[in-house]
Amino acid sequence: MFFFETKYIQILILIVCTITSEESYTHLKSLLKFEFENFTYISMTLKFRFAIISDLHIGLPETIWDHPSRFHLVEVSIPAFESALEHLSQLNLDFLLLPGDLTQHGEAKNHTWLQQRLNKLPFPTYVIPGNHDVPVLEANEQSIAFSTFPSYYRKFGYADTEELYYTCELIPGVRLIGLNSNYFNEQGNQIGHLGDKQLRWLEKVLTQAKNELVLVMVHHNVIEHLPNQSRHPMASRYMLDNAPDLLAILRRYGVKLIFTGHLHVQDIAYSEGIYEVTTGSLVSYPHPYRLLEFHEDKYGREWLQVMSYRVESVPEFPNLQYSSRKWMGDRSFPFLVKFLTLPPLNIPLAQAEAMAPSLREFWANIADGDTLFDCDLFPEKIGNYFKKYAALAEDGTLNLIDNCSTLLLSGLSANTKYRGKTMQKSITAHRTNFTTTEKASQRDIFNVASK
Ligand SMILES: [Fe+2]
Ligand SMILES: [Fe+2]
Repeated sequence: MFFFETKYIQILILIVCTITSEESYTHLKSLLKFEFENFTYISMTLKFRFAIISDLHIGLPETIWDHPSRFHLVEVSIPAFESALEHLSQLNLDFLLLPGDLTQHGEAKNHTWLQQRLNKLPFPTYVIPGNHDVPVLEANEQSIAFSTFPSYYRKFGYADTEELYYTCELIPGVRLIGLNSNYFNEQGNQIGHLGDKQLRWLEKVLTQAKNELVLVMVHHNVIEHLPNQSRHPMASRYMLDNAPDLLAILRRYGVKLIFTGHLHVQDIAYSEGIYEVTTGSLVSYPHPYRLLEFHEDKYGREWLQVMSYRVESVPEFPNLQYSSRKWMGDRSFPFLVKFLTLPPLNIPLAQAEAMAPSLREFWANIADGDTLFDCDLFPEKIGNYFKKYAALAEDGTLNLIDNCSTLLLSGLSANTKYRGKTMQKSITAHRTNFTTTEKASQRDIFNVASK
Protein backbone atom coordinates (compact mmCIF):
# COMPACT_ATOMS: atom_id res chain seq x y z
CA MET A 1 0.00 0.00 0.00
CA PHE A 2 1.17 3.54 -0.63
CA PHE A 3 0.89 6.38 1.82
CA PHE A 4 1.13 9.99 0.78
CA GLU A 5 2.94 12.02 3.41
CA THR A 6 0.92 14.91 4.82
CA LYS A 7 3.24 17.42 3.23
CA TYR A 8 2.44 16.11 -0.24
CA ILE A 9 -1.29 16.30 0.40
CA GLN A 10 -0.80 19.91 1.45
CA ILE A 11 1.06 20.64 -1.77
CA LEU A 12 -1.73 19.15 -3.81
CA ILE A 13 -4.21 21.40 -2.01
CA LEU A 14 -2.02 24.38 -2.82
CA ILE A 15 -1.86 23.46 -6.48
CA VAL A 16 -5.66 23.32 -6.60
CA CYS A 17 -5.89 26.64 -4.78
CA THR A 18 -3.40 28.21 -7.18
CA ILE A 19 -5.59 27.27 -10.09
CA THR A 20 -8.83 28.40 -8.49
CA SER A 21 -7.92 31.52 -6.51
CA GLU A 22 -4.84 33.64 -5.96
CA GLU A 23 -6.13 34.75 -2.55
CA SER A 24 -6.71 31.27 -1.23
CA TYR A 25 -3.25 30.25 -2.47
CA THR A 26 -1.54 33.04 -0.49
CA HIS A 27 -3.61 32.32 2.58
CA LEU A 28 -2.98 28.58 2.58
CA LYS A 29 0.70 28.97 1.81
CA SER A 30 1.25 31.10 4.89
CA LEU A 31 -0.95 28.78 6.92
CA LEU A 32 0.94 25.62 6.04
CA LYS A 33 4.37 27.21 6.68
CA PHE A 34 6.63 25.27 4.37
CA GLU A 35 8.82 26.31 1.48
CA PHE A 36 6.68 25.60 -1.50
CA GLU A 37 9.18 27.25 -3.86
CA ASN A 38 11.91 24.81 -2.92
CA PHE A 39 9.76 21.78 -3.49
CA THR A 40 10.91 20.00 -6.60
CA TYR A 41 9.18 16.66 -6.69
CA ILE A 42 6.35 14.61 -5.30
CA SER A 43 7.19 11.07 -4.38
CA MET A 44 5.40 8.15 -2.75
CA THR A 45 6.55 6.06 0.17
CA LEU A 46 6.31 2.32 -0.24
CA LYS A 47 5.05 0.43 2.77
CA PHE A 48 3.47 -3.00 2.98
CA ARG A 49 2.93 -5.91 5.33
CA PHE A 50 2.96 -9.62 4.58
CA ALA A 51 3.35 -13.00 6.23
CA ILE A 52 5.17 -16.25 5.53
CA ILE A 53 4.07 -19.74 6.52
CA SER A 54 6.43 -22.43 5.30
CA ASP A 55 6.42 -26.20 5.01
CA LEU A 56 2.80 -26.69 6.05
CA HIS A 57 2.99 -30.37 5.05
CA ILE A 58 -0.80 -30.49 5.02
CA GLY A 59 -2.01 -34.01 5.76
CA LEU A 60 -5.64 -34.97 6.09
CA PRO A 61 -5.88 -37.70 8.78
CA GLU A 62 -6.45 -40.53 6.28
CA THR A 63 -3.27 -39.57 4.35
CA ILE A 64 -0.89 -39.65 7.32
CA TRP A 65 1.44 -42.62 7.78
CA ASP A 66 4.05 -42.98 10.45
CA HIS A 67 7.78 -43.50 10.39
CA PRO A 68 9.77 -43.89 13.60
CA SER A 69 12.29 -41.15 12.74
CA ARG A 70 9.89 -38.65 11.14
CA PHE A 71 10.57 -35.19 12.63
CA HIS A 72 7.43 -33.69 11.05
CA LEU A 73 4.51 -33.66 13.45
CA VAL A 74 2.11 -33.86 10.50
CA GLU A 75 -0.73 -34.65 12.87
CA VAL A 76 -0.96 -30.92 13.69
CA SER A 77 -0.71 -29.62 10.12
CA ILE A 78 -4.33 -28.53 9.70
CA PRO A 79 -5.01 -27.18 13.23
CA ALA A 80 -1.63 -25.39 13.27
CA PHE A 81 -2.41 -23.81 9.89
CA GLU A 82 -5.84 -22.74 11.14
CA SER A 83 -4.28 -21.22 14.26
CA ALA A 84 -1.78 -19.18 12.21
CA LEU A 85 -4.50 -18.08 9.78
CA GLU A 86 -6.78 -16.97 12.58
CA HIS A 87 -4.02 -14.69 13.86
CA LEU A 88 -2.93 -13.41 10.43
CA SER A 89 -6.50 -12.70 9.35
CA GLN A 90 -6.63 -9.94 11.97
CA LEU A 91 -3.50 -8.14 10.74
CA ASN A 92 -4.58 -6.44 7.52
CA LEU A 93 -2.00 -8.26 5.39
CA ASP A 94 -1.24 -7.24 1.85
CA PHE A 95 -0.38 -10.84 0.98
CA LEU A 96 0.76 -14.23 2.31
CA LEU A 97 3.66 -16.29 0.94
CA LEU A 98 3.86 -20.10 1.22
CA PRO A 99 7.36 -21.20 0.09
CA GLY A 100 6.67 -24.85 -0.58
CA ASP A 101 6.08 -28.24 1.04
CA LEU A 102 2.42 -27.36 1.04
CA THR A 103 1.46 -31.04 1.38
CA GLN A 104 3.02 -34.06 3.08
CA HIS A 105 3.53 -36.28 0.02
CA GLY A 106 1.96 -34.46 -2.94
CA GLU A 107 -1.44 -36.12 -2.39
CA ALA A 108 -4.23 -34.80 -4.66
CA LYS A 109 -6.54 -34.81 -1.63
CA ASN A 110 -4.22 -32.56 0.34
CA HIS A 111 -3.55 -30.20 -2.56
CA THR A 112 -7.32 -29.91 -3.11
CA TRP A 113 -7.97 -29.27 0.59
CA LEU A 114 -5.36 -26.49 0.61
CA GLN A 115 -6.62 -24.92 -2.61
CA GLN A 116 -10.13 -24.74 -1.15
CA ARG A 117 -8.89 -23.32 2.15
CA LEU A 118 -6.77 -20.63 0.44
CA ASN A 119 -9.85 -19.62 -1.56
CA LYS A 120 -11.48 -18.42 1.66
CA LEU A 121 -8.64 -16.20 2.89
CA PRO A 122 -9.13 -12.44 3.14
CA PHE A 123 -5.75 -11.67 1.54
CA PRO A 124 -4.00 -12.78 -1.68
CA THR A 125 -1.80 -15.85 -1.23
CA TYR A 126 1.08 -17.08 -3.38
CA VAL A 127 2.58 -20.57 -3.38
CA ILE A 128 5.49 -22.42 -4.97
CA PRO A 129 6.15 -26.17 -4.98
CA GLY A 130 8.42 -27.89 -2.46
CA ASN A 131 9.97 -31.30 -2.92
CA HIS A 132 7.06 -32.86 -0.98
CA ASP A 133 4.50 -31.32 -3.36
CA VAL A 134 5.86 -32.79 -6.59
CA PRO A 135 7.83 -35.89 -5.51
CA VAL A 136 7.34 -37.73 -8.82
CA LEU A 137 7.21 -36.80 -12.51
CA GLU A 138 4.24 -39.04 -13.28
CA ALA A 139 1.25 -39.38 -10.99
CA ASN A 140 1.17 -42.48 -8.79
CA GLU A 141 -1.21 -43.85 -6.17
CA GLN A 142 0.08 -41.30 -3.68
CA SER A 143 1.01 -38.10 -5.53
CA ILE A 144 -0.06 -35.76 -8.31
CA ALA A 145 2.10 -35.48 -11.44
CA PHE A 146 4.81 -32.81 -11.46
CA SER A 147 3.25 -30.96 -14.42
CA THR A 148 -0.21 -30.70 -12.84
CA PHE A 149 0.90 -28.61 -9.86
CA PRO A 150 -0.05 -25.24 -11.46
CA SER A 151 -3.61 -26.42 -12.11
CA TYR A 152 -4.25 -26.63 -8.35
CA TYR A 153 -3.06 -23.08 -7.69
CA ARG A 154 -4.44 -20.87 -10.49
CA LYS A 155 -5.55 -18.21 -8.00
CA PHE A 156 -2.33 -18.41 -6.01
CA GLY A 157 0.34 -17.40 -8.53
CA TYR A 158 -0.27 -19.74 -11.46
CA ALA A 159 -3.00 -17.74 -13.21
CA ASP A 160 -1.62 -18.00 -16.72
CA THR A 161 1.24 -20.46 -16.92
CA GLU A 162 1.79 -24.20 -17.21
CA GLU A 163 5.34 -23.82 -15.91
CA LEU A 164 6.06 -24.37 -12.20
CA TYR A 165 7.53 -20.86 -11.93
CA TYR A 166 5.81 -17.50 -12.41
CA THR A 167 5.95 -13.80 -11.75
CA CYS A 168 3.24 -11.38 -10.72
CA GLU A 169 2.79 -7.88 -9.38
CA LEU A 170 1.98 -8.07 -5.66
CA ILE A 171 1.13 -4.40 -5.27
CA PRO A 172 2.15 -1.47 -7.48
CA GLY A 173 5.96 -1.34 -7.48
CA VAL A 174 6.47 -4.75 -5.88
CA ARG A 175 7.01 -7.93 -7.90
CA LEU A 176 7.08 -11.54 -6.79
CA ILE A 177 9.15 -14.12 -8.62
CA GLY A 178 8.15 -17.64 -7.62
CA LEU A 179 10.78 -20.19 -8.65
CA ASN A 180 10.58 -23.96 -8.91
CA SER A 181 13.67 -25.56 -7.38
CA ASN A 182 12.47 -29.17 -7.85
CA TYR A 183 14.35 -30.90 -10.63
CA PHE A 184 14.65 -34.52 -11.75
CA ASN A 185 18.17 -35.43 -12.89
CA GLU A 186 19.15 -38.05 -15.48
CA GLN A 187 18.93 -40.79 -12.87
CA GLY A 188 15.38 -39.70 -12.11
CA ASN A 189 16.31 -38.38 -8.66
CA GLN A 190 14.66 -35.24 -7.38
CA ILE A 191 17.24 -32.58 -6.48
CA GLY A 192 17.33 -28.86 -5.70
CA HIS A 193 18.26 -27.21 -8.99
CA LEU A 194 17.14 -24.46 -11.37
CA GLY A 195 17.20 -25.50 -15.04
CA ASP A 196 18.71 -23.33 -17.79
CA LYS A 197 15.29 -22.49 -19.26
CA GLN A 198 14.10 -21.15 -15.91
CA LEU A 199 17.29 -19.11 -15.40
CA ARG A 200 16.89 -17.54 -18.87
CA TRP A 201 13.26 -16.73 -18.06
CA LEU A 202 14.37 -15.20 -14.74
CA GLU A 203 16.85 -12.86 -16.47
CA LYS A 204 14.15 -11.74 -18.88
CA VAL A 205 11.75 -10.99 -16.02
CA LEU A 206 14.40 -9.08 -14.07
CA THR A 207 15.31 -7.02 -17.15
CA GLN A 208 11.69 -5.87 -17.33
CA ALA A 209 11.41 -5.28 -13.56
CA LYS A 210 14.16 -2.70 -13.21
CA ASN A 211 12.02 -0.14 -11.39
CA GLU A 212 10.29 -2.57 -9.05
CA LEU A 213 11.16 -4.06 -5.70
CA VAL A 214 11.58 -7.78 -6.38
CA LEU A 215 10.87 -10.54 -3.84
CA VAL A 216 12.11 -14.01 -4.79
CA MET A 217 10.46 -17.08 -3.30
CA VAL A 218 12.08 -20.50 -3.76
CA HIS A 219 11.88 -23.69 -1.68
CA HIS A 220 15.57 -24.73 -1.44
CA ASN A 221 18.16 -22.62 0.36
CA VAL A 222 20.30 -20.31 -1.75
CA ILE A 223 22.60 -18.83 0.93
CA GLU A 224 24.04 -21.15 3.60
CA HIS A 225 22.21 -21.22 6.93
CA LEU A 226 24.39 -23.90 8.54
CA PRO A 227 28.20 -24.13 8.68
CA ASN A 228 29.52 -25.24 5.29
CA GLN A 229 25.97 -26.25 4.34
CA SER A 230 26.75 -26.71 0.63
CA ARG A 231 29.26 -29.46 1.38
CA HIS A 232 27.95 -31.03 4.56
CA PRO A 233 26.86 -34.62 3.78
CA MET A 234 23.53 -34.20 5.59
CA ALA A 235 22.80 -30.52 4.91
CA SER A 236 23.76 -30.05 1.25
CA ARG A 237 20.46 -31.50 0.01
CA TYR A 238 18.69 -28.49 1.49
CA MET A 239 20.67 -26.20 -0.82
CA LEU A 240 20.03 -25.40 -4.44
CA ASP A 241 22.90 -27.19 -6.20
CA ASN A 242 23.44 -24.25 -8.57
CA ALA A 243 22.85 -21.55 -5.96
CA PRO A 244 25.91 -19.51 -7.15
CA ASP A 245 24.30 -19.17 -10.61
CA LEU A 246 21.09 -17.84 -9.11
CA LEU A 247 22.91 -15.48 -6.75
CA ALA A 248 25.01 -14.06 -9.61
CA ILE A 249 21.85 -13.23 -11.58
CA LEU A 250 20.05 -11.74 -8.59
CA ARG A 251 23.05 -9.55 -7.70
CA ARG A 252 23.35 -8.34 -11.29
CA TYR A 253 19.80 -7.01 -11.10
CA GLY A 254 19.96 -5.67 -7.54
CA VAL A 255 17.58 -8.17 -5.94
CA LYS A 256 17.93 -8.01 -2.15
CA LEU A 257 15.42 -10.47 -0.72
CA ILE A 258 14.96 -14.23 -1.01
CA PHE A 259 12.39 -16.22 0.99
CA THR A 260 12.89 -19.97 1.39
CA GLY A 261 11.78 -22.98 3.43
CA HIS A 262 12.80 -26.68 3.24
CA LEU A 263 15.37 -26.62 6.08
CA HIS A 264 12.71 -26.39 8.84
CA VAL A 265 14.89 -23.89 10.71
CA GLN A 266 14.38 -20.24 11.63
CA ASP A 267 17.34 -18.39 10.16
CA ILE A 268 18.30 -15.20 8.36
CA ALA A 269 21.49 -15.26 6.30
CA TYR A 270 23.25 -12.50 4.38
CA SER A 271 25.66 -12.60 1.47
CA GLU A 272 26.97 -9.62 -0.50
CA GLY A 273 23.85 -7.50 -0.63
CA ILE A 274 21.24 -10.28 -0.45
CA TYR A 275 19.30 -11.48 2.56
CA GLU A 276 17.75 -14.93 2.65
CA VAL A 277 14.99 -15.35 5.19
CA THR A 278 14.28 -19.03 5.71
CA THR A 279 11.23 -19.89 7.79
CA GLY A 280 10.87 -23.03 9.89
CA SER A 281 8.13 -25.57 9.31
CA LEU A 282 4.66 -25.16 10.69
CA VAL A 283 4.61 -28.90 11.48
CA SER A 284 7.90 -29.21 13.32
CA TYR A 285 9.21 -27.57 16.44
CA PRO A 286 8.98 -24.60 17.04
CA HIS A 287 5.97 -24.35 14.64
CA PRO A 288 6.83 -20.78 13.57
CA TYR A 289 5.46 -18.29 11.07
CA ARG A 290 6.59 -14.79 10.24
CA LEU A 291 5.10 -11.33 9.88
CA LEU A 292 7.11 -8.84 7.83
CA GLU A 293 6.80 -5.12 7.20
CA PHE A 294 8.64 -3.27 4.47
CA HIS A 295 9.02 0.48 4.46
CA GLU A 296 11.12 3.26 2.98
CA ASP A 297 12.22 6.08 5.26
CA LYS A 298 12.48 9.75 4.38
CA TYR A 299 16.11 9.23 3.32
CA GLY A 300 15.10 6.66 0.73
CA ARG A 301 16.47 3.77 2.73
CA GLU A 302 14.58 0.47 2.60
CA TRP A 303 13.88 -1.53 5.75
CA LEU A 304 12.35 -4.93 6.37
CA GLN A 305 11.14 -5.63 9.87
CA VAL A 306 10.85 -9.35 10.57
CA MET A 307 8.76 -10.69 13.44
CA SER A 308 8.18 -14.33 14.31
CA TYR A 309 5.38 -16.13 16.10
CA ARG A 310 4.78 -19.71 17.16
CA VAL A 311 1.72 -21.90 17.29
CA GLU A 312 1.51 -22.52 21.01
CA SER A 313 -1.47 -24.83 21.21
CA VAL A 314 -3.82 -26.96 19.10
CA PRO A 315 -6.70 -29.11 20.41
CA GLU A 316 -4.81 -32.44 20.40
CA PHE A 317 -1.61 -30.85 21.74
CA PRO A 318 -2.57 -28.14 24.25
CA ASN A 319 1.10 -27.57 25.14
CA LEU A 320 2.42 -27.91 21.61
CA GLN A 321 5.82 -26.31 22.21
CA TYR A 322 6.67 -28.77 24.98
CA SER A 323 5.16 -31.85 23.27
CA SER A 324 6.74 -31.11 19.93
CA ARG A 325 10.20 -30.43 21.32
CA LYS A 326 9.97 -33.74 23.19
CA TRP A 327 8.74 -35.52 20.01
CA MET A 328 11.80 -34.22 18.14
CA GLY A 329 14.17 -35.20 20.97
CA ASP A 330 12.63 -38.68 21.27
CA ARG A 331 13.24 -39.32 17.56
CA SER A 332 16.66 -37.71 17.29
CA PHE A 333 18.99 -40.64 18.07
CA PRO A 334 19.53 -41.98 14.49
CA PHE A 335 19.90 -38.43 13.16
CA LEU A 336 22.49 -37.53 15.81
CA VAL A 337 24.55 -40.70 15.36
CA LYS A 338 24.70 -40.00 11.63
CA PHE A 339 25.59 -36.35 12.24
CA LEU A 340 28.41 -37.24 14.66
CA THR A 341 29.94 -40.06 12.61
CA LEU A 342 29.92 -38.29 9.23
CA PRO A 343 32.42 -35.59 8.19
CA PRO A 344 33.54 -33.17 9.40
CA LEU A 345 33.29 -34.67 12.95
CA ASN A 346 34.04 -38.33 12.03
CA ILE A 347 33.46 -39.55 15.58
CA PRO A 348 33.74 -43.35 16.04
CA LEU A 349 30.34 -45.07 16.15
CA ALA A 350 30.56 -46.26 19.77
CA GLN A 351 31.50 -42.78 21.00
CA ALA A 352 28.75 -41.20 18.85
CA GLU A 353 26.13 -43.56 20.27
CA ALA A 354 27.28 -42.70 23.78
CA MET A 355 27.10 -38.96 23.09
CA ALA A 356 23.80 -38.85 21.17
CA PRO A 357 21.41 -38.98 24.18
CA SER A 358 23.03 -35.88 25.70
CA LEU A 359 22.48 -34.06 22.38
CA ARG A 360 18.76 -34.82 22.06
CA GLU A 361 17.94 -31.08 22.14
CA PHE A 362 20.53 -30.19 19.49
CA TRP A 363 18.30 -29.98 16.43
CA ALA A 364 15.41 -28.37 18.33
CA ASN A 365 17.84 -25.62 19.37
CA ILE A 366 18.96 -25.14 15.77
CA ALA A 367 15.34 -25.05 14.57
CA ASP A 368 14.59 -22.35 17.16
CA GLY A 369 17.03 -19.93 15.50
CA ASP A 370 19.23 -17.63 17.57
CA THR A 371 20.88 -20.77 18.95
CA LEU A 372 23.22 -20.85 21.93
CA PHE A 373 25.00 -23.94 23.30
CA ASP A 374 27.04 -24.63 26.35
CA CYS A 375 29.90 -25.92 24.21
CA ASP A 376 32.17 -26.41 27.21
CA LEU A 377 30.24 -29.62 27.99
CA PHE A 378 31.87 -31.35 25.02
CA PRO A 379 35.40 -32.33 24.08
CA GLU A 380 37.24 -29.31 22.66
CA LYS A 381 37.09 -30.38 19.00
CA ILE A 382 33.34 -31.04 19.14
CA GLY A 383 32.63 -27.97 21.25
CA ASN A 384 34.47 -25.75 18.76
CA TYR A 385 32.45 -27.25 15.93
CA PHE A 386 29.12 -26.65 17.69
CA LYS A 387 30.13 -23.02 18.28
CA LYS A 388 29.85 -22.50 14.52
CA TYR A 389 26.09 -23.18 14.82
CA ALA A 390 25.64 -20.62 17.58
CA ALA A 391 24.18 -17.12 17.27
CA LEU A 392 27.50 -15.44 17.82
CA ALA A 393 29.18 -12.73 15.78
CA GLU A 394 32.77 -13.11 14.66
CA ASP A 395 33.92 -11.21 17.73
CA GLY A 396 32.03 -13.63 20.01
CA THR A 397 29.21 -11.25 20.92
CA LEU A 398 25.55 -12.25 20.77
CA ASN A 399 23.95 -11.95 17.33
CA LEU A 400 20.27 -12.71 17.87
CA ILE A 401 18.80 -12.01 14.46
CA ASP A 402 16.89 -15.04 13.23
CA ASN A 403 13.47 -14.46 14.74
CA CYS A 404 12.99 -10.74 15.22
CA SER A 405 15.16 -8.18 13.49
CA THR A 406 15.09 -5.22 11.17
CA LEU A 407 17.08 -5.55 7.96
CA LEU A 408 18.52 -2.52 6.24
CA LEU A 409 18.21 -3.28 2.55
CA SER A 410 19.68 -0.15 0.99
CA GLY A 411 21.08 3.29 1.60
CA LEU A 412 24.12 2.08 3.52
CA SER A 413 27.04 4.48 3.72
CA ALA A 414 30.50 3.35 2.66
CA ASN A 415 31.54 3.47 6.30
CA THR A 416 28.95 0.98 7.45
CA LYS A 417 30.61 -1.82 9.35
CA TYR A 418 29.45 -5.38 9.10
CA ARG A 419 28.56 -6.96 12.39
CA GLY A 420 28.78 -10.74 12.44
CA LYS A 421 27.43 -12.82 9.61
CA THR A 422 24.79 -10.36 8.63
CA MET A 423 24.29 -6.64 8.47
CA GLN A 424 21.21 -6.15 10.52
CA LYS A 425 19.90 -5.12 13.89
CA SER A 426 18.43 -7.58 16.28
CA ILE A 427 15.46 -6.06 18.01
CA THR A 428 14.57 -8.84 20.37
CA ALA A 429 14.49 -12.59 20.48
CA HIS A 430 12.15 -14.23 22.88
CA ARG A 431 11.68 -17.94 23.47
CA THR A 432 7.92 -18.03 23.86
CA ASN A 433 6.49 -14.73 22.75
CA PHE A 434 7.88 -12.82 19.84
CA THR A 435 5.45 -9.93 19.88
CA THR A 436 7.71 -7.34 21.43
CA THR A 437 9.36 -5.92 18.33
CA GLU A 438 7.37 -2.73 18.73
CA LYS A 439 9.84 -1.84 21.44
CA ALA A 440 12.44 -1.01 18.83
CA SER A 441 12.87 2.71 18.84
CA GLN A 442 13.57 4.78 15.78
CA ARG A 443 16.92 5.59 17.36
CA ASP A 444 17.77 1.90 17.58
CA ILE A 445 17.01 1.43 13.92
CA PHE A 446 19.09 4.41 12.84
CA ASN A 447 22.01 3.13 14.90
CA VAL A 448 22.38 0.23 12.47
CA ALA A 449 23.66 2.45 9.73
CA SER A 450 26.15 4.22 11.94
CA LYS A 451 27.66 1.20 13.71
FE1 LIG B 1 9.47 -29.45 4.48
FE1 LIG C 1 11.24 -29.53 1.52
